[in-house]
Amino acid sequence: QIPTEIQHVRDYEVWARDFIADDIWHYIQSGSDQNLSLAANRSSFDDIALLPRVLRSVHQGHTGVDMFGRFHRAPLLLAPVAYHGLVHPEAELATVQAAVALQTAMVVSTLSSRRFADIRRTAEAAAHDLKRPVPPLWLQLYSQPTRKQTAAVLQAAADAGFEAIMWTVDAHYKRSSLNLPAGVNAVNVDMDAQHKHTSQLLDERLVFGSSFTEHAPTWEDLAWLRARTDKPILVKGIVAPADAVQAIAAGANGIVVSNHGGRVLDGMVSPLTVLPHLRAAVGADVPLLLDGGIRWGTDMVKALAMGADAVMVGRPQLHALAVAGMLGVAHMLHVLRVEFELAMAQVGCAHVQELDESVLFRA
Ligand code: FNR
Repeated sequence: QIPTEIQHVRDYEVWARDFIADDIWHYIQSGSDQNLSLAANRSSFDDIALLPRVLRSVHQGHTGVDMFGRFHRAPLLLAPVAYHGLVHPEAELATVQAAVALQTAMVVSTLSSRRFADIRRTAEAAAHDLKRPVPPLWLQLYSQPTRKQTAAVLQAAADAGFEAIMWTVDAHYKRSSLNLPAGVNAVNVDMDAQHKHTSQLLDERLVFGSSFTEHAPTWEDLAWLRARTDKPILVKGIVAPADAVQAIAAGANGIVVSNHGGRVLDGMVSPLTVLPHLRAAVGADVPLLLDGGIRWGTDMVKALAMGADAVMVGRPQLHALAVAGMLGVAHMLHVLRVEFELAMAQVGCAHVQELDESVLFRA
């Protein structure tokens, strides 16, 4: 059951504290070092003011968008988040049922705690029960220590009917000290690769001269990936306009402007701050997604007005899952969508494409 006090996405975060053990809470919430990037992800939204336009008709408006040949009821996706099993026994199976219920695309992490095929099967069963289609399910890819291992992850995702590949490139040099509890594992990658991920750069290790530099992907791996698949490829974790241009030139179909929720390099720019520069660099037609700090419908309006085609939400999935399982995630998505729709109407936009700089105030 969802406590009636929970009205906003933020409320799930407050409630979740009581449902999650200390070390896991820290793993989920943490940024890095001083948490400058984590804080900037929020403050960059709060620092933008909306400039509502009045008396415009929003009759017959809607929040839908088309991306990669599929219709999305709102420009909102579930960001890839590792190990949903850390906070709920049904793990990704609960999350994907919420995705079906709310017709929201889910990006499934390479490090998910349930098998891709099981996530797919659960989505299909829920879709059947609810008499609605399976929403887009995408793979989030972490390159594995060997291409053979990476190819195995891609194959499992293809077998599960995942429709696009979101290749994350910003987290290969990352400190992490979470010890996974018994029963929670990255079941879609082999043990060797799993060990490398879960023991990533423990605090005393150096980067140069370690195996991390040997195995971290480079631009050559984008060419390799492009040659292996006809599916859309989005590169996640780009903030430099020149990198976005290079990725598109190398055959990527979209960019996810992200600083990994402020979890990797502290002091780096927030995605929202740099977004207009990326839009200017890649032009109007390249799909740009953004994540980091999305907690309110008005955040979605701001991100779209500044050049994003859609946004993704990360931590709130785990907060909602911990508090109320599948219902919690569905409710969290519903709250964001309703707030977004209201804010669109309040700034005077009937369709997502109308959201642009004209609804923002800049001194
Ligand atoms: C993440 N993120 C992430 N990204 C990714 O590409 N693969 C992954 O497995 C994970 N895992 C993961 C675990 C946890 C606990 C967090 C908090 C984040 C990053 C995620 O996709 C997204 O970029 C951020 O979470 C967005 O920021 P917010 O919405 O959490 O503020």
